Amino acid sequence: MALLSRQTRGPRGRKMNARLPAFRPAQFFSFILLGFLSVASLADEPPVDMARERARAASALTVAVPNILSVESNGSSIWVKGQTAPAHLSPGQWITVHGSGFGAGPDVDYAKVLVGTTRVLERDVRSFLGTVNFIQRLFYEFPEQFDQWEGDFRNWSDTAIEFRVPVTASHGPLVVQVQKRIGALPSLNDASRPHAVWDPMTERISDANFIHQSDVISTLGLPVASEEIPVAVENPEFQTLAEEGEAAFWVFDYNVGLTHHLNKMDWPTVLAGRGSDPQTGRLIDATTAFGAIPVNAEEVPAVASRAHDFEPYPSPMPIKPLLRQPLSGGWAQPTGYVGYSYVQSIHPFTQIKGSWVGFSCVSCHSQRVTYEAAPGKTVTKVFPGIPNVQWSMKWNVLGGMKGIVGKETGPDGTVAMVDKTQLIWAVPNGTGEASLVRGADDGSRYANDYLFSPIAIPIITRHTPVRRALSRSEMIIGFEGSYAHAEEPDGGVGALNSRSLQALTAYMTTLDEDDGVLRNLGMYRWLKRTGQLGQINSIGEGQFLQSNAANYPQLQSHLARGRATYRRDCLSCHQPNFGTWSDENMFPLTQVGSYFSPTIFQRQVQSIRTSILRDLYWVEGRGLLHDGHVKSLEDLVNPARCTEGSELYRQYYTLHPGGFHIAKGTPAQERALRRHAYFADVSWDKDNLYWDYQAMRRAFGPREFGAQAAVPLPAAPHPWCAKSAEEVSDLVEFLLSL
Ligand code: HEC
Ligand code: HEC
Repeated sequence: MALLSRQTRGPRGRKMNARLPAFRPAQFFSFILLGFLSVASLADEPPVDMARERARAASALTVAVPNILSVESNGSSIWVKGQTAPAHLSPGQWITVHGSGFGAGPDVDYAKVLVGTTRVLERDVRSFLGTVNFIQRLFYEFPEQFDQWEGDFRNWSDTAIEFRVPVTASHGPLVVQVQKRIGALPSLNDASRPHAVWDPMTERISDANFIHQSDVISTLGLPVASEEIPVAVENPEFQTLAEEGEAAFWVFDYNVGLTHHLNKMDWPTVLAGRGSDPQTGRLIDATTAFGAIPVNAEEVPAVASRAHDFEPYPSPMPIKPLLRQPLSGGWAQPTGYVGYSYVQSIHPFTQIKGSWVGFSCVSCHSQRVTYEAAPGKTVTKVFPGIPNVQWSMKWNVLGGMKGIVGKETGPDGTVAMVDKTQLIWAVPNGTGEASLVRGADDGSRYANDYLFSPIAIPIITRHTPVRRALSRSEMIIGFEGSYAHAEEPDGGVGALNSRSLQALTAYMTTLDEDDGVLRNLGMYRWLKRTGQLGQINSIGEGQFLQSNAANYPQLQSHLARGRATYRRDCLSCHQPNFGTWSDENMFPLTQVGSYFSPTIFQRQVQSIRTSILRDLYWVEGRGLLHDGHVKSLEDLVNPARCTEGSELYRQYYTLHPGGFHIAKGTPAQERALRRHAYFADVSWDKDNLYWDYQAMRRAFGPREFGAQAAVPLPAAPHPWCAKSAEEVSDLVEFLLSL
C-alpha cells in the first residue's frame, strides 16, 4: 500500500526504513481528551499525493497481459513456461516470478498475486494497542503496535516479482493479475479535486502527533490476469491454522461480551426467551426475534458445541480493570445458540472474573439449511459464509441495551427524551445499522447521525481474493484488516493479533468448500419455486444433487441465454476476478444510488464497491444490494425497476400503502423517528411514518456528507437492469450458477 510518508515503502521497493515510528512518547494520552483527539487529528482534508497519482497515470498508459515465463527459488528454477508438473511451494519461501507485463506493483497499479484464493499480502498489517474509556464508552488506540503481520512482497518490477509464499496459502494455482488505476473518484463536495480518505488501519489512533496516511479511491480498468501456473503448496501448518481460525469465527466474542454487559445488555434473559416484543408485549425467543440458530452438535463443527480455551485470546481486551491486568486468555462456553458464547473477562469495576455473552462472526455470517443430499437422505447443516437472513438488531431492544432510551440532542440542536425502540425493531432482517443505538452526542464515530442506514450482511464464502473489503476503499486492505469490523453495537472491540488474523484468513479461504452443494441446491429450489423443474426432467432434490447439471440440455440452454444477457449487461463490472464476480471498482453514490441512507462508511468513501456475486439464492433472502431493499433477483434485473413510471418502480420507489414504514408508537418513540431524515406523514395511515425515497433523492448531499448543494441520485439504485422482460428469468437462472 502506498504511503504518504514515503520513508516506509517505495512503490516497488522493500521497506526501506522498516516501519513508521511506532513507539512515540505518550504525552498526549490525557484522559480528558479522549475521543476528541481522533476527530481533531483526522479532521483535516486528507492530502493527495500527486507524485503517486502521476506514477499511476503513467503506468495506466501501458496495459499488458502479465506473462509468467519462469519461477525461481533460491537461485534455481522451479517452473518454466509450458511445464505441466506443479512447482512445489511452502509458506515463508521466497520466490521470484519472471516474465513480462507485471506493471508497477500493488501501490501504483491495482495489482495482486494469488496463490489459490489467497492473496500475497500487499502491505504490513499492524495491530495497535487500544483502550476503552468506559465512562464515555469510547474506544481509541495508541500509536503503539503490539503486533504486525508483515507484507509478503520484496520487489515488483515489470519483469520480476519477488515475494514470500503466504502462510495462509494451501493450494494453487499461482496467478498475477493487474488492473490499472485509470483515475480517481472526484469529491462529491467539490468535483475539482479527488476524494481522498484516511487509512482505516490507523483511524482509531488519537495521538495528535501520529502521521496518518491517506489515499484517493482509484477507479480501475479491467482485470488482466496471467495464465494459471500449477503449484502444489506444502503447508503442514495450514490445518492447525485454519482450525484456530474456525474457533475464532464460531466461538470468540471479539470483546463484545464485556462491552455489552457494561452497556446493560441482558443476554441471558434474551437467550432464555424472556425478552418481550415491544409491539405485542409477548415473550419472544431468540430464533423468532433475530434468527439465532440453536446449536445441534451434528449440524456444526465440533468447536461450536463445546467449551473452548483461547490462549491467548485472538484480540487483547482493551477494557482495563483499574487494579489488575485484563485476562490474556480464557474460556468460551457455548450458550446453546450458534455464534453466541460466554467469554471470560475481568469486570473493570468489581475487578472480579466473570463470563459474559457476546457473539462471533457466525451469528451473522451463516445459515441453517435442511436438504435432501441424496434420495431419501436428509441433511441439516449450518453453512458458514452465507448471510444469516434472519439476523436482526432486535436483541438490542429485548436486552435493554444502553442508548435506546434517553436524552439526545436532535439534528436541530434541541435536547429531548427519545426512545428508539420502534426504529431499531424496524431495521430489516439480514441487515445491521451502525449509527442507531448510540446517542447523537457521545463523541464516538458511531454516534447517531439521524440517517436510517441498514447494511446487509454480505456473502463471504469467497472473499480473500478481494483487496477492497467492507465496501470501503482499498485501504481497508481486504479481510486482513486488523479489525474484525468494529461497527457498533455489534462489532468487535480492539485489533486482533497477527496469528489470529492469519488463522481467520486461512479459515476464510475454506469457506467456499460447500459452494458446489449450495449452488446446485439453490438452483433446484429456484426451479421448483418458479415451476420450471421440467428443465431437469422433474427429478427430486436428492437426485439432482447427485447428478451433473451438464446432463440437462434444457437447463443448459436457459443458462446459455442467461449468460449472453449477463455478458452484455453485467460483465463490465461483475468480472470473474477469481470467482468473486466483482471488478472491485468503487462507484460514486451518484451513480450506484441507495434506497435507504448510505452508511457512515459509504458516506466516508462516497462510493460503493461492486458486490461479490456468489451463492445468490442464499443471499436473496435478506434482500439485495447494500441495504437489502430489493426483494428478489427477478426484481433486481427487471427493466421495469429501472424505469421511472412503471408499476414496479412505483411499488419500490414512491410513497404508497405497503411501502417501508415504522410505527410512531409513544411520543418519545415518535420524536426519535421524526428526527431521522426522510420519514414522512402519509394521508392513508395515521399510525406510521413512511420512508420517502424521493425526498432523499431530491435533498441528497448536504445532510449526508456536507455537500454545498444537493447532488443527483439515479432514479433507481443499481440502475443496471436487463433490457427486456423476456430476458429476466434466464438471466436470474444464470446468476444462480455463479
Ligand atoms: C453483527 C453481524 C456481523 C458479525 C458478528 C460479523 N459480521 Fe462481517 N459483516 C456484517 C455486515 C453487516 C457487513 C457489511 C458491512 C459494510 O459493508 O459496512 C459485513 C462485512 C464483512 C466482510 C466484507 C465483505 C465484503 O464484501 O467486502 C467480511 C470479510 C466479514 N464481514 C467477515 C466477518 C468476520 C471474519 C467476522 C468475525 C470476526 C464478522 N464478519 C462478524 C455483519 C457481521
Ligand atoms: C456499472 C457497474 C455495474 C453493472 C453494469 C452491474 N452491476 Fe451489479 N452491482 C454493482 C455495484 C456497484 C453493486 C453494489 C450496489 C449496492 O450494494 O448497493 C452491485 C450489486 C449487485 C448485486 C447485489 C448483490 C448482493 O449481495 O446483494 C447483484 C445481485 C448484482 N449487482 C447483479 C447485477 C446484474 C445481474 C447486472 C446486469 C444486469 C449488474 N449487476 C450490472 C455494479 C454493477
